[in-house]
Amino acid sequence: MGHKEYELTYKDKASVGEVLSTAAKPLAALKSSREESTWRNILITAENLHGLASLIEMKKQGKLLCADGSPGARLIYIDPPFSTRLEFKGKKSQKAYKDKTVGAEFVESLRRRLILLKELLTDDGSIFVHLDWKKAHYIKVVMDEVFGEENFLNDIVWSYGGRGAKHIAGQFSRNHDIILWYKRGGRHIFNQLTVGRRVAKKGSGFKQDESGRWFKTSPRGDYTDESMEALEKEGRVYTTRNGTMRVKYFLREDGEHLVEDKLVGDVWDDIPDAMHLSETEKTGYPTQKPEALLERVIRAASNPGDIVLDCFAGAGTALVAAEKLGRRWAGIDSGTLAGHTIEKRLLTIASTKSLDDPKKKYGKACRPFDVLGTLEHSGENCCDAHGHTPSVKCRYDIDDASGECVVKIERFSSPGSGLKGMEALSSVAIDFCFDGETMKTDLFATAAELEAKGYELRFPLESIKGEVLIVFTDIFGHEKWFVGELA
Ligand SMILES: C[S@@+](CC[C@H](N)C(=O)[O-])C[C@H]1O[C@@H](n2cnc3c(N)ncnc32)[C@H](O)[C@@H]1O
Repeated sequence: MGHKEYELTYKDKASVGEVLSTAAKPLAALKSSREESTWRNILITAENLHGLASLIEMKKQGKLLCADGSPGARLIYIDPPFSTRLEFKGKKSQKAYKDKTVGAEFVESLRRRLILLKELLTDDGSIFVHLDWKKAHYIKVVMDEVFGEENFLNDIVWSYGGRGAKHIAGQFSRNHDIILWYKRGGRHIFNQLTVGRRVAKKGSGFKQDESGRWFKTSPRGDYTDESMEALEKEGRVYTTRNGTMRVKYFLREDGEHLVEDKLVGDVWDDIPDAMHLSETEKTGYPTQKPEALLERVIRAASNPGDIVLDCFAGAGTALVAAEKLGRRWAGIDSGTLAGHTIEKRLLTIASTKSLDDPKKKYGKACRPFDVLGTLEHSGENCCDAHGHTPSVKCRYDIDDASGECVVKIERFSSPGSGLKGMEALSSVAIDFCFDGETMKTDLFATAAELEAKGYELRFPLESIKGEVLIVFTDIFGHEKWFVGELA
């Protein structure tokens, strides 16, 4: 037995072998889309320990492949509970999740997921673990053990600002999170990123050369005389009045502004926290992270077609950013509210902002994805795992003049919610030819879209190809499944 220099011990620490023997629970496809596709993105609505075990089986069976054929996820991002001892609720007080696990139990529960996640990475994959001051340093040591100290890449400080003004007695205000980045081993993907800092030309202090190009300068640093000569030929050497040679960096012009491209380092202070999200980005899910943060992670550590995995998906920010950046994705979350928030967000992605140009809409529908769940969640006629089925009163008519089928929601309520009128309604989805097992979303409407149309849904009669399934979902994520013949 080799002698370890140091070792991490704590109460109830399982062996790696025990963790790897975690059983996968059978998963059923609860929802899907009708489109054929060589790859379908995956949303698992289950406890992630079992969800990860299922994904490991899929990887072994060659069913979890990046577009280039590599088995596994090229990038994992997780934002687990931070051990805050709090219970998180949605914007309308819906229960989201509890974050009550503390001490060694918290450390061990995350370690078990990390051991399984390592199995899911491609050989050249990497993992980002988002935490804060409470547990990041404990988990750093765990990650050194699970992934190897030599595979540590960065501890990124996300300095989100915003709350900086809040005074905490006797200490500095806490306004950053810590994101630990490790590779699985060997070479990993790293795309160096830059951010453009815009400054007004006037008063910027930058110089212009004879041909009017704006530039900044830096000391020659390690440049050899030979390199300086080469730079001189490119017009990139600036000599100060006292004869010191400096290197010129040209700046981009944008109207009356200059754009200075800076390399992204390990302190990210240009992405404000979720309180500053635009109304179109806010989902109402607590602890939602900004798409801009996930965009940076995904662009840096993966390429289009790579699988991005998040097993604490929450409002699905990583999945949405992956979708918009042309990556494949797999997400897991055990929460009812989380599952519904993710589905709704993906099915309405076209009207959200583009990551390439935030002034424009993304404009495209999401690619096909399957919602997988443990069998006890699926049910004939009604999906009511928690005894909270919403109650719906609907009228179904045929409009002879237009040849349309009309579904009119007359009343909707959520038991025990105290919400009146249609306040509790979140969305309606329709499958025009239900196979009795998996809901295929042919039509999806949000409560806001329904309200604008007097809570009436119209579709051509000929779209109906068999038994129709209508899924009514409330703002808590609870569903009422109605199956019937409409035509
Ligand atoms: C901090 S939130 C993630 C927020 C997410 N990054 C976003 O931007 O919306 C953590 C999520 O982990 C989920 N979660 C916690 N423990 C879990 C478990 N054991 N299995 C599956 N999901 C879990 C919670 O339901 C919650 O949605």
